[in-house]
Amino acid sequence: MSDFAELHYDGNVYKIPVVEGSEKEKALDISNLRASSGLITIDPGFKNTGSTTSAITFLDGEEGILRYRGYPIEQLAEKSTFLEVSYLIIYGALPTTEQLSTWKSEITYHTLIHEDFKRILEGFPSNSHPMGVLSSLVTSLTAFYPESLDPNRSADQVRISIIRLLAKMPTLAAWSFKNEIGHPTVYPNNNLDYTSNFLRMMFSTPAEEYEIDPVVTDALDKLLILHAEHEQNCSTSTVRIVGSSHASLYSSVSAGINALWGPLHGGANQAVIEMLEAIKADGGPGAVDKYLAKAKDKDDPFRLMGFGHRVYKNFDPRARIIKKAADNVLEKLGVNDPVLEIAKKLEEAALNDPYFVERKLYPNVDFYSGIIYRALGIPTNMFTVMFAMGRLPGWIAQWMEMRTNNEPIGRPRQVYTGETVRDYVDISKR
Ligand code: ACO
Repeated sequence: MSDFAELHYDGNVYKIPVVEGSEKEKALDISNLRASSGLITIDPGFKNTGSTTSAITFLDGEEGILRYRGYPIEQLAEKSTFLEVSYLIIYGALPTTEQLSTWKSEITYHTLIHEDFKRILEGFPSNSHPMGVLSSLVTSLTAFYPESLDPNRSADQVRISIIRLLAKMPTLAAWSFKNEIGHPTVYPNNNLDYTSNFLRMMFSTPAEEYEIDPVVTDALDKLLILHAEHEQNCSTSTVRIVGSSHASLYSSVSAGINALWGPLHGGANQAVIEMLEAIKADGGPGAVDKYLAKAKDKDDPFRLMGFGHRVYKNFDPRARIIKKAADNVLEKLGVNDPVLEIAKKLEEAALNDPYFVERKLYPNVDFYSGIIYRALGIPTNMFTVMFAMGRLPGWIAQWMEMRTNNEPIGRPRQVYTGETVRDYVDISKR
């Protein structure tokens, strides 16, 4: 294999180095192309552009492979826990018994948030979407921990910021929900594990204690693992690009939460359930063909939510695990959700339809996750918050990797297509 490619342009030949990753993926390194040739590359949506090299996640969209730090997602979902996977993603290796125990107890110790957060919450109208509230609360952490703003922060400062963020995220997420429904906030209980603690803060009230059901806790923990990291997606790229200006971890992650919120990204899990509900109200499984036709109609903005993916062009391995888990959880909890039947019918119809086959559109992670969240009692507006809680270790690891590698500030170029130079016209002459 040649270690460079040649670009022939305007009578000149430019040698472009080829870089290769550990899984033999190859890329052209064009970082010096403009300096040598005056040319830049253009690639809207970065469909064919690598923004970085990264040692965190390997993803092969054609083969449906997803590995965190080399470990297959299927094994981690079956055998690990969210906190162990978080350690793996952030620090690059599975923790020893002692490391895991320290990690868990440090995170448990920092779950409480400053009482002033209540005053911030009071400023939001109840009914506020919890994603907007969560991103604001995460940014607010900079006010409580101003040392996190120091661009020359020590490794110890970064470590404590990471612990605080992971520890406080379930508290902030649950409080965003309590604000929405107008209930009093519930303090963390450090006798509980990470996921149970979150569920209790969500669902217990001064009038009634929430009973932890291990089926619910295990299912949620698995969902968090499946969402924990996914290389350079929209929200992660946002975290890296915000952090590249040396902004703090908290403000970078808050930006990631906002990027995740959109319906083409993490907000799809809420959009899927809303779509399935609309189909149910419009006739149930019998209306599936109508919605399929709408999704194929180029004059109709409707898209089949939870279908399609920028990189998975065969299947999304997370969707397979979640579909199986959905059946299992619904059966164990004795829930009979009619939208599950609609989802299965829709999936089957789409997978046999040439429009979806030709475009390699398959169910993604969000197609079945909402059905499980619903069975676990999580309200629809909180689905994307659940995704944000899951994705947190990925955002942290990517932010750290970018800063440790001392990557330059993210600043794409453009090809200008506006007016060429013209003289200012006095207002009386326009
Ligand atoms: N329904 C109908 N048609 C679709 C869908 C869909 N869900 N997704 C893609 N297409 C069509 C497009 O119209 C386009 O058709 P064309 O070639 O005839 O113009 C073709 O498939 C390619 O689609 P693009 O939008 O160019 O693909 P891109 O990689 O830019 O988008 C995306 C990927 C945003 C995920 C898209 O498939 C989509 O909008 N899906 C629905 C929203 C969704 O589920 N998002 C969650 C993704 S997973 C995650 O972020 C966690």
